[in-house]
Amino acid sequence: MTQDFAALFDERERERFALHESHLNAQMVRVLKAIGYDVGFTRGVGQYLYDRAGTRYLDLLSGFGVFALGRNHPALRQALISVLEAELPNLVQMDVLTLAGVLAERLLKHTPWLDRVFFANSGAEAVEAAMKFARSATGRPGIVYCEHAFHGLSYGALSLNGDEIFRQGFEPLLPDCVSVPFNDLAALERALASRKIAAFIVEPIQGKGVNLPDSDYLAGAAELCRKHGTLFVADEIQSGLGRTGKFLAIEHWGVEPDMVLISKSLSGGHVPVGAVITRGQVFEKVFNRMDRAVVHGSTFAKNDLAMAAGIATLEVLAGERLAENAALAGDRLVRGFTEMMSRYELMREVRGKGLMIGVEFGAPKSLKLKASWHAVETASKGLFCQLVTIPLFKDHKILCQVAGHGSHTIKLLPALVITPEDCDWILRGFEAAIADAHRGPGAVISLGKTLVDHALRARRAS
Ligand SMILES: Cc1ncc(COP(=O)(O)O)c(C=O)c1O
Repeated sequence: MTQDFAALFDERERERFALHESHLNAQMVRVLKAIGYDVGFTRGVGQYLYDRAGTRYLDLLSGFGVFALGRNHPALRQALISVLEAELPNLVQMDVLTLAGVLAERLLKHTPWLDRVFFANSGAEAVEAAMKFARSATGRPGIVYCEHAFHGLSYGALSLNGDEIFRQGFEPLLPDCVSVPFNDLAALERALASRKIAAFIVEPIQGKGVNLPDSDYLAGAAELCRKHGTLFVADEIQSGLGRTGKFLAIEHWGVEPDMVLISKSLSGGHVPVGAVITRGQVFEKVFNRMDRAVVHGSTFAKNDLAMAAGIATLEVLAGERLAENAALAGDRLVRGFTEMMSRYELMREVRGKGLMIGVEFGAPKSLKLKASWHAVETASKGLFCQLVTIPLFKDHKILCQVAGHGSHTIKLLPALVITPEDCDWILRGFEAAIADAHRGPGAVISLGKTLVDHALRARRAS
């Protein structure tokens, strides 16, 4: 029986790509090898990753936003060990779970206008629950979502996905889901006017592209929802829990949604969890009789490890003042990038709040760079950003990626514990990589060569 998982990891980690090629998603292995990200990480501590040689990398993906506290935070580890050691009854099912009650009580302190919590196992599951609850509470079929939205990839959540590449091959999706442009209140009003819309679901800051709302958009949307009897649902799965400098991103705009969805960071990166925080009236409609007490739920939801991870995460966020740190570090980065823009014509915009930042690139004016831009973009839309991300990884040991398929925006979503020194590391690395990308055709040739080299190396190894 395997008892030492560190030993198992050490023994087998060099086979990871072969194992995945044989038994899991081989395309993912091909992608990693093609862009040279196949270094084989062996350790993760805080905001850093370490490869086999012990080289330290700064992680700006944070597992797509789950490691707000950084990897393997001691408080999280201790919380989980203590649950295992306590031999709690866990998931009795014909009982209710104490730790779930405590976590719900603590979450509701952050959303005093709401009174009930429903726990799920992931972001998409929280979205599915919100869709069902909204239909049940309003008796209406429709859900309105925004273009470029991302709410997850299960069937309900995918029906609210603004990106064609995710939908292709999986259709037909759920009926009565209507998309409107983000930041367009007139279009939202037209969609809501049918009075067939149960919910409008929106990310306060869109993760795909890091798109910020206009200053009056979210409050205006909430007002329109109230007027037309539609529930206003804020998907804070990525933006919540301190990421943008406030506990919830909607606090920047003073909005009080009917439902708030959270997940990612609440897990501490360790135990998947999701939550729908909503009004009592919604629960009264959904769970309206004793025979409907289990009308929606999931076997593992509310399990003790997930609840302990959530409780410990909230304590660390408050104790280490991580939302405040996100605001300070984010300002430092945005200031640094904005200053850089005057030197590099391919930089188009820097936007974000706290530690959810997008650095957007765009077609240049000068002839010298136009040719290179078009050469890479003709090969594959959005490829230009790899001229920056690949050297960032290879030469500057910074792990990051673009903010979506075909995107010209590189996204920064680091742990909220990053330091001023880390910010300087990021700015130095980006400056060098962006300066290189401005060298003209040489940079493009070198990107092409890197991709071909990696592809050949991958083919030889397989
Ligand atoms: C805003 C938002 N909603 C929902 C999801 C789906 O979460 P999960 O991947 O846990 O299903 C994501 C994941 O990236 C997200 O960013």
